[in-house]
Amino acid sequence: MRRTTAYRPIRSGCTDGRSYPRSGTALWLSLPPGSGLEATTYSYDAVVNRRRRSIPSGLLGWLRYLASPTRRAETLYDLAADRLLIANASAPLANMGFWRNVDPAAPNSLERANLALFDLVNDAAGLDDASRVVDAGSGFGLNAIRVARRAPNCAVVGINRSQVQIAMSRELAGRAGLADRIRFLRADVHELPFADASVDRVLSVEAAFHFHARDRFFAEVYRALVPGGWLSMVDLVPLPPRGPVDRVAWRFTRRGLAIPDANVTTLDAYRASLERAGLEVTVFRSIVADVYPAFRRWQLRQPLRALVRVPPLLALSSAGFLFYPWDYVQVVARRPMQPHDVLRARGR
Ligand SMILES: C[S@@+](CC[C@H](N)C(=O)[O-])C[C@H]1O[C@@H](n2cnc3c(N)ncnc32)[C@H](O)[C@@H]1O
Repeated sequence: MRRTTAYRPIRSGCTDGRSYPRSGTALWLSLPPGSGLEATTYSYDAVVNRRRRSIPSGLLGWLRYLASPTRRAETLYDLAADRLLIANASAPLANMGFWRNVDPAAPNSLERANLALFDLVNDAAGLDDASRVVDAGSGFGLNAIRVARRAPNCAVVGINRSQVQIAMSRELAGRAGLADRIRFLRADVHELPFADASVDRVLSVEAAFHFHARDRFFAEVYRALVPGGWLSMVDLVPLPPRGPVDRVAWRFTRRGLAIPDANVTTLDAYRASLERAGLEVTVFRSIVADVYPAFRRWQLRQPLRALVRVPPLLALSSAGFLFYPWDYVQVVARRPMQPHDVLRARGR
């Protein structure tokens, strides 16, 4: 008999067999206001369970997670994509959000803050004159959809290693009527599947902290961008531990959130790694004050029942997140034009 996963039909109103009240008629019915997918009735189970059968689940899945540090992020999102964010049951978003104009107590505040984070990155990318856009670490594909809606001349490619998220992204892009302009590729950002100088913009929203060789990613961005093309991104930055308590917290956090030790860094070292890749940095600023405090206030407002949605192993191993010193950066950088690039562009 074919074994199915622990996920129950949406009829039961929950994804993991426990009974939570739900507000919509289907799981993730209420996609973020402004996402262009508000009316989408979306069955996570129908899409994901088909895919999940080929992925080790349960204890086997978590053992695989612990055993392979360089594939941990991929395994994490395959195993628990839907439960990563505490109480994030209403939308397939997995970011902390940009809260400058968003009140954590308002309805749909997390969704609004997530969309504001996308807009921060997209506004800085100057999409008007771009036609080939890549979203590196594309999650559930919502920013790729947002970009395709906003820039009708763009072809967008989302890069992600998680099979589960790729399946969901394709489903959502299809439902948004954008399947012809957005592609989602299962690929690794450390080896971008694009020819040299073939991409106008690389975007990345809260994903690079997972990459096991961020330097290599930046080198790949440089290679794939056209001269004069832009990288626009935001990223979580785990700062170096300040003492023994931070070191213990970090041990938990790195396992739970699939963050390689190499990504613990100062902001100066982070900026230097962009420059080493040859990128010209035009914006490099901490936006931590518009991210953490309000996100934490939002977390505290979530009823306890939402907390139990998080897989216990994940909750335990990411407990250090609350105590660890974090920063959060916005980066805009470009592949500079060399004199011969300028001449070639003029001759065009
Ligand atoms: C916190 S999520 C952010 C998702 C998305 N950018 C968003 O804003 O909703 C991080 C994403 O990076 C992806 N990821 C992590 N490591 C990756 C890698 N080496 N190559 C491609 N994708 C990766 C994960 O699968 C996940 O989708």
